Amino acid sequence: MGFDTALTRALGIRVPVVQGGMQWVGYAELAAAVSNAGGLGILTALTQPTPEDLRKEIRRCRGMTKNPFGVNLTLLPALVPPDYGAYAQVIIDEGIKIVETAGNNPGPVIRQLKAAGVTILHKCTTIRHAKSAVKLGVDFLSIDGFECAGHVGEHDITNVILLNRARQDLGGVPFIASGGFADGYGLAAALALGAEGINMGTRFMSTVEAPIHQKVKEAIVNAEETDTALVLRRWKNTSRLFSNEVTKQALKIEKESTSGEFSDVAPYVSGKRGREVFLNGDINFGVWTAGQVIGVIHDIPTCGELLTRIEKEAAETLTRSQSLYKATPQSKL
Ligand SMILES: Cc1cc2nc3c(=O)[nH]c(=O)nc-3n(C[C@H](O)[C@H](O)[C@H](O)COP(=O)(O)O)c2cc1C
Repeated sequence: MGFDTALTRALGIRVPVVQGGMQWVGYAELAAAVSNAGGLGILTALTQPTPEDLRKEIRRCRGMTKNPFGVNLTLLPALVPPDYGAYAQVIIDEGIKIVETAGNNPGPVIRQLKAAGVTILHKCTTIRHAKSAVKLGVDFLSIDGFECAGHVGEHDITNVILLNRARQDLGGVPFIASGGFADGYGLAAALALGAEGINMGTRFMSTVEAPIHQKVKEAIVNAEETDTALVLRRWKNTSRLFSNEVTKQALKIEKESTSGEFSDVAPYVSGKRGREVFLNGDINFGVWTAGQVIGVIHDIPTCGELLTRIEKEAAETLTRSQSLYKATPQSKL
C-alpha cells in the first residue's frame, strides 16, 4: 500500500509531502533528510549569496541523497534584486528537475525554467495569482493559506476556503495545500479537499536535521497557535512572524509611526538579525517567521520519523473516513 497522487507520480516521491523553501533553513542537510525520508526536500536558492554558491549547495545535496530534491526561487521586491535569471540558469545547468517558485512577477523565471523542462510548483496566497500562474504553464500550484509562515498576502483567506476555490476554479490543474500542516490528519484533510499533497515549513524547522539552533526548535515546541503576529500590513507586505520581543516592538512602531515610512520599522525586521536567531539560539535577537501550526507541534523528530508517522496517520484517517460511509439498504448512491 502506498500513496498514488498526481504529486507522487510527477515528482517520483513516496509520500506527498513537500518541504517548502525556507530562508536560512533550507540547506542541504534538511533537503536531503526530507528526500531520504520519501518526501520532496527543497534547497532555498537565496540562502546562497551567489548563483555559484547555489551550484555548490546543489552538488553537496546530491552527495547526501539519491532521491529527487528541488530548489526554491523566491522573487521578492528589493532595491537591488538578486540576479534571478543567473540563479535559474544554475538550477537548469545542474540538472534540477523540480523548482518551487514564489513571489512577485514570476513570469520570466517560470518561462526560463519551463523551457528547460523543469516541473514548477508555484506558491501563491490568492486564487487570482494562482490563475495567472496557470496561464504561465506551471505544473502544480502550492496554495498557501492565511495560517502559513512568512508572506501571507493581504486577503487573509484560510485554507478551508482557498483549497475549495482551487478545486473549483483552477480548471483541474493539480495543487497542493500549504500552511497549517504538521501531521497525517492534515494530509488526509488536504487530500479530501482535492489537493494532491501538502507543503510544510514550520513543522520541518522542528526536526533533528533542520540546521538551526536547538533553542529555536524548543521555542516552536513550547509555543501555542496564538504566538504569531502579522507585521508590515501597513506597507502591504504582511508577514506572519513568531511573536517575540522584537516583533512586538515592530508592531508598536508600525501602529504609532506618524511618518508612515518603512525606514522607521526596517531595523526591527532586519533579515540579518533573524538569521542570527537561527545561529545563536537567542529567540529574541531578531524577527523570525513561523506559522500558526506551532500550536500543534510538540516534538523534534527526525525527518524519517516524521514522514513515517505522517504516512501512518494519513492512511488510518483515510481508512476511517471510508468506514464512515457504508452501503445501506436505503442507500441510493
Ligand atoms: C523560517 C521560514 C522561512 C521561509 N522562507 C521562505 C522563502 O524564502 N521563500 C518561500 O517561498 N517561502 C518561505 N517560507 C514559507 C514556507 O515555504 C511555507 O510556504 C510555509 O512555511 C507553509 O506554512 P507552514 O509554516 O504553516 O507549514 C518560509 C517559512 C519559514 C518557516
